[in-house]
Amino acid sequence: MTTVIDMMCRISPILAAVVFMQLANAAPSSTVMPSDTVIEASVDGLGLYQAHCAACHDGQVPRAPHMITFSTIGADTILNAMNNGVMRAQASALSATEREVLASFLAGEAMAPPKPILACADPLGALANSDAAAMQGWGGNAANHRHSDGTLAGLDRNNVDQLGLKWVFAYPGALRARSQPLVHDGVVFVGSQSGTIYALDLDSGCAHWTYSAGAEVRSSLSLGQLPDRDDPVLYMGDFSAIVHAIDASDGSLVWRASVGDHTDATITGSPKLHDGALYVPLSSSEWATAADPGYACCTFRGGVVSVDAASGELNWRTHVIDEPAVETGETNPFGADRKGPAGAPVWNSPTIDAERGVLYVGTGEGYTSPAADTSDAVLAFSLATGERQWAKQLLGGDAWNMACFIGEAANCPEEDGPDLDIGASTVLWSGAARDYLLVGQKSGDVYALDPDKGGAIVWHNKVGRGGFLGGVHWGMSANGDSLFVPIADTTITGRFTGPISPGIHALDPTSGEVRWYTPSVADCDGKSPIPVCDQGMSAAITSTDQLVFAGSLDGNLNAYDSLSGEVVWSFDTFGEFESVSGDTALGGSIESDGPVLYKGHVLVNSGYQFGARMPGNALMVFSLQPSADLAQSVADE
Ligand code: HEC
Repeated sequence: MTTVIDMMCRISPILAAVVFMQLANAAPSSTVMPSDTVIEASVDGLGLYQAHCAACHDGQVPRAPHMITFSTIGADTILNAMNNGVMRAQASALSATEREVLASFLAGEAMAPPKPILACADPLGALANSDAAAMQGWGGNAANHRHSDGTLAGLDRNNVDQLGLKWVFAYPGALRARSQPLVHDGVVFVGSQSGTIYALDLDSGCAHWTYSAGAEVRSSLSLGQLPDRDDPVLYMGDFSAIVHAIDASDGSLVWRASVGDHTDATITGSPKLHDGALYVPLSSSEWATAADPGYACCTFRGGVVSVDAASGELNWRTHVIDEPAVETGETNPFGADRKGPAGAPVWNSPTIDAERGVLYVGTGEGYTSPAADTSDAVLAFSLATGERQWAKQLLGGDAWNMACFIGEAANCPEEDGPDLDIGASTVLWSGAARDYLLVGQKSGDVYALDPDKGGAIVWHNKVGRGGFLGGVHWGMSANGDSLFVPIADTTITGRFTGPISPGIHALDPTSGEVRWYTPSVADCDGKSPIPVCDQGMSAAITSTDQLVFAGSLDGNLNAYDSLSGEVVWSFDTFGEFESVSGDTALGGSIESDGPVLYKGHVLVNSGYQFGARMPGNALMVFSLQPSADLAQSVADE
């Protein structure tokens, strides 16, 4: 089989020459290894790297972590990316041993056992069935308000300035932290990059139990009750498109079900539990597989699956694109068949509208040309049958995949982007007279759609320039008065131009009128310029009646007054912190998931190695009763 690098030579001799020059520069480091055996392994590792990975990881592809950063990820994580993660296709030609050699070479270390975490001394007792203070999964509620009742959250304008750091957990073997925690009855349930699920004590951060999903868990967990079980059940989706249901009291498996119908299917958005069914959004890594010029691009269709919450049995599976992809009769310049239509992945958590008997999802870009008419769209599906009720496309002609990053690569659709997904969950909001389905797009556009009129546009306002990480990227929040819209508008890539407005915008949900806008101000002094430090607000945000909590890519976590937009509390999560197990936790960009509020606590993940954001592995818990030791160690820095 021809390798990507061979293809690169044919596509762009100059680019390939740059790749080889960089490799030549990288080579000396492998000759200073101490022992003969290590040199032997490094030589093999370098060869494998050159043949299978270098074409994208030497800085050409902005979204791919640069080769020099691999040494900080650890061999396990690299191996996991090849075996179960986003690099499955790129490593498919390698044997198990070759993958291990390559992972060790790139990490600059032998495969190491994971570092121990702090286990709780006392066993976890029976868990309560319901907990009014708990935000239920990703969106906080079925309508995705990402809102917490201020009284239950125990946080208001008057006490927010007393928040301080209580404890920090270091996810082992991780350089990003993006599974939004769920707190229930004093226990923090959270997934991780390694695929381990942790049940941590809210007071101390010790671990009651762990469960291994086997592949990265990006989504938030959901918690529910089954009729024939005493203990609540936790649900989550992993990067291999497997859904797990586990007992919340001890982490034992209740059931596990593979829900994808494509080899590249993944779960990034959080499954929603509603009335005995679990609704699972389907995304894919085929956008990355498409970078291989020999790949017959593309066949994945975004979708939603409903499974029975008690058994994991399939209720229905529905696709965003009606008909399966077919051969178009054309081939790409390297002789691979062209297939389509494909794409329109769903990577947001569905919004449940029980009254109308439907769920809503937003979709991403098409992978093939012409872009499917349900890409960058909002769709309504029947909760009972999965049948499509309506689709409202908000941007047509958006077709893109990773092949577009590597020059005139064979599988880049002619549209070449702009990749302006609807990645944030839609928010169903009830006004005095009517309901609004509020939608934020990576373009910076915010829409209110009419759920009773097939998604007809009620109002539209563009509050950001838009870009690679949005515009609106992961999640807006609404309280009874306002819709809060985080805008990233990063300058990480030069592709998007024009004035930017990163920060928080408060909109009138009935008109779209901006009530206030508080710009995010870069706090990047002393922070690593590579990857880029940026003030953009890409992560999802959370509100109470009085406050809005939001994090930024420079690592700052802010609380805003919901009426004035004034910043009333702030904490910089960037840097090294002592973890509960005496290890070092690294804070970096706040990205993807958003703050969780629970009885005087704020929980936030910090660190996100992807596409030029700052890496890290920290889960930080703030409380109105902070730890005196931690407050001291932070002050000493
Ligand atoms: C065609 C381009 C391309 C090739 C070839 C490629 N990668 Fe990647 N790699 C990427 C991109 C893009 C990402 C970021 C993926 C994302 O953002 O989802 C990535 C991510 C990764 C990550 C981080 C994964 C994670 O979950 O964060 C690792 C580790 C990695 N690649 C290793 C490799 C190795 C090892 C090889 C060779 C076997 C390889 N890659 C080949 C483009 C490539």
